[in-house]
Amino acid sequence: MPRLITLSRAARLVGVKRGALQSKIQQGELRTFEGELLLSDLLHVYPQTKVEDTTMLERVEHIMENAVNKIIRPDEDTPDSNTLAARILVISQELAQARQESRRYKLLVNDLGQKLEELATDTEQTPDTAFSKLQAWFQQALETGVEHNGDTEIIAKEAFLRVMAAQVRILPSGHEFLIEGSDSILEAGLRSGLALDYGCSNGNCGKCKAKVVSGQVKKIAPHDYALSDTEKGLGIILACCNTAVTDVVLEAEEALGAYDIPQQEIDVRIKKIEQPDDRVLILHAKTPRTERLRFLAGQYLTLQLDSLPALGCSIASCPCDDMNLQFHIPASASNPFIEALAQSCKANDTLSIKGPQGDFTLNEDSPRSLLFIAVDAGFGPVKSLIEHAMALDTAENIHLIWITTAGNSHYLGNLCRSWDDALDNFDFTALEAMQADSVESLLPPIVTDLSNIADLDVYACTPEPLIKPLQQYLTDNGVLSAQLRMEPVRQNPPAG
Ligand code: FES
Repeated sequence: MPRLITLSRAARLVGVKRGALQSKIQQGELRTFEGELLLSDLLHVYPQTKVEDTTMLERVEHIMENAVNKIIRPDEDTPDSNTLAARILVISQELAQARQESRRYKLLVNDLGQKLEELATDTEQTPDTAFSKLQAWFQQALETGVEHNGDTEIIAKEAFLRVMAAQVRILPSGHEFLIEGSDSILEAGLRSGLALDYGCSNGNCGKCKAKVVSGQVKKIAPHDYALSDTEKGLGIILACCNTAVTDVVLEAEEALGAYDIPQQEIDVRIKKIEQPDDRVLILHAKTPRTERLRFLAGQYLTLQLDSLPALGCSIASCPCDDMNLQFHIPASASNPFIEALAQSCKANDTLSIKGPQGDFTLNEDSPRSLLFIAVDAGFGPVKSLIEHAMALDTAENIHLIWITTAGNSHYLGNLCRSWDDALDNFDFTALEAMQADSVESLLPPIVTDLSNIADLDVYACTPEPLIKPLQQYLTDNGVLSAQLRMEPVRQNPPAG
C-alpha cells in the first residue's frame, strides 16, 4: 500500500523547509493526496535523503533532554534520554526491516500462487520439468528479493520521527504542526507560528477550547476551568493543558487577522534595558505567567510608565514567545518616556502595555518569498516578522536589507549574520546611507539583483519621512502595491 506522509513530517524527514516542498508541489514535481505526499515521490525528488542525517539525532537529543525526563518520572532504573533515543532508533530500524520483509514475502507468496496456477494449466510439461522450472524461478525470486532496499532506512526514520513528534492538524484551516517532548498543544502551535485562540495559557479561562476529531491526547497539567459533561462528551479539551499522544486532528479557533486579536492591558516587568548605540534602546519586558500578551508579529503597543506621556512602540519579538517581549526604541532626549527609560528605569520596574494595534503583519496565505527592508530602528518590527516567518517555516526565501543612516548602527547585526549563516534560505545585506535622503540611492544594485522582485512580498519599516519616497521607489521598480506593506518607526502615542 502506498505510504503517505504529511508535509511537516516530510520537510523534517528530508531536511528542507515546508516552503520548498510547497513550491515543488506547485511546480508539479510532487503530488499531494489530501494534503499528504507519497513517500516514494519524496524519495524520488530527494534521493540523497539518508538516515545518517545527524541533525535529526541532535534534535532528538535536545527534545529528549528537555522533555522526556519531565514525562517519565525520574527513577534510578530509568535509562537516560540518550539511551532511550538510541533504543527507539534501533527498534524503529528493526520494525521497518520487519515490515519490509513481511511485504516482500507476501508478494512472493502471491507470485508463487500465480506460478503454480500457470503450471497446473500447462499440460505440455512433465511434472519434473514443471518442478525444475518452479524451483529455478523461486530461487531467482528469493535472490532478487534480498537486494538492499534503501526505503527501509527512510521508513525507519519516519517511524522514529513519529515516536518523537506527534502531529497536530487544525480544522478548518488545515494548518499543521509537530509537538515535541511534553509541550502542550497550545505551546507547540504558537511556536509553529499559528495564531490559535487562547487567553491565560494555564487552564483558567477556557479560551483555548478545542475539539478532538481524531487521535489521542493526554492531560499534562491540571486546570481550574471546568469543562461541562456535554463538552467532555463532545471531545472538547483545553489546548493549554493537553498534549498529543498520537497524531491528532482538532477543531480550534484561530485569529485570521489583526481584528481577531483582543485588546489587552497588562502590567509587565522590565527585565533589562540595553543601549547598543547612542540612537536606540532595547527594552526587554516580561508579562506575568498567567497574563501573557496575545499579538501578531509586526503589531505595536502603547507603553505607559507612571504619569509620563504614553509611547507607541512596535513589538520586536515573536508571538511564539508571548511572555518575553522586546522593543527597539529610537533614543530621544526630548521624549520624557524615552529619557526615563535611558536614565532612571531599572530591572523589575513595572510598566503598563495596552494593545496590540496595527496591521503591519505577515500575509500568511501568500506562497511568495519575502523581502524585508528596515531603516535604523525599523529593524524592530521587521525582526518580529522575520522570527514569525521562521516559525511558520513556509517562505522559500527570505531577504533582509537593513539600512542605517548617519549616527545609527546595525545594532543587532550579529543576530542577522547568524541567521544568514544558519539558514540556507536567508540572506542579509547591511548598508549604510550617509544621509537619510540617500536611502533609496542604495537600493538599485540590490533591486537589480532581485530580478524577481515582482514575485516577492515586501515589508518595509522606516522613519516616517522616508515612507513615501521608499514606497514610490519600490512600486516604480516592480514591487506590486498589493504585495507591499509599509510601517513607520513608531515612537509617538497612537492616535485614539
Ligand atoms: S488559555 Fe486559558 S484555559 Fe487555556
